[in-house]
Amino acid sequence: MDWGMKNRLAQLIQPDGHCFFLPIDHGYFQGPTRKLEKPGETVKPLLPYCDALFVTRGVLRSCIDPTNSKPIILRVSGGTSMVGKDLAHEGVTTSVREAIRLNAAAVGVSIFVGSDYEHETLMNLANLVNECEDYGIPVMAVTAVGKELEKREARYLALCCRIAAELGARVVKTYWCEDFDKVVNGCPVPVVMAGGPKCETELEVFEFVYDGMQKGAIGVNLGRNVWQNDHPVAMARALRAIIHENATAKEAYDLFNSLKGSGQ
Ligand code: 5RP
Repeated sequence: MDWGMKNRLAQLIQPDGHCFFLPIDHGYFQGPTRKLEKPGETVKPLLPYCDALFVTRGVLRSCIDPTNSKPIILRVSGGTSMVGKDLAHEGVTTSVREAIRLNAAAVGVSIFVGSDYEHETLMNLANLVNECEDYGIPVMAVTAVGKELEKREARYLALCCRIAAELGARVVKTYWCEDFDKVVNGCPVPVVMAGGPKCETELEVFEFVYDGMQKGAIGVNLGRNVWQNDHPVAMARALRAIIHENATAKEAYDLFNSLKGSGQ
């Protein structure tokens, strides 16, 4: 692996081998998502507790202070919306030249395995890997399910993750599911977990993150379950304790409650 690729991965994945990515890219197909109407304000108090931001170029330029940021994973796929015909019909929206200009540490692209646009989105990934490898930029593949949230089960997600790795993704982002070890064990590159829509309780979030970490995930790319919570800083700090300090779900929950009690 060349120095540039190693250096970028080291910015994202911390010396303990774990990572906490904070995604704020949802607006690229959802518009002004709840609590992400002003992304700059949403992330400001959370930045100290995450290892990288997952964001589009538009929000990066207009809302994120370039002098006080974390490494950037640039969301480079899109071209669809919640009200359009098919969320899977994504293209690559942002050039590698732009990613370099923005000093991105990595780029992220969605794949929609099993959809009508499976081939197009897999080729988006493969072509992006071809170009990014020339410049030492890691590609994170996002195994997306669009509105079909029920697809989030081990056999399907294992298939998606393995395909993403085979096509050259350096990191794969997928959903946590029951039997998550089947997903991780079939994927030869690091796996991070996304959250999906906000869970009913904080403990639920800590439990799935803890379970996923025990089963081999290297960390999370968790958005709504952090910044849609009424106590986002407490949430971020408690998640950080699981990811970087070996806390259990119960310990994280206790920490969340004590931080919440102290007004965070
Ligand atoms: C949205 C994404 C998000 O980055 C991903 O879904 C993680 O966010 P959340 O935890 O809110 O699901 O790819 O397109």
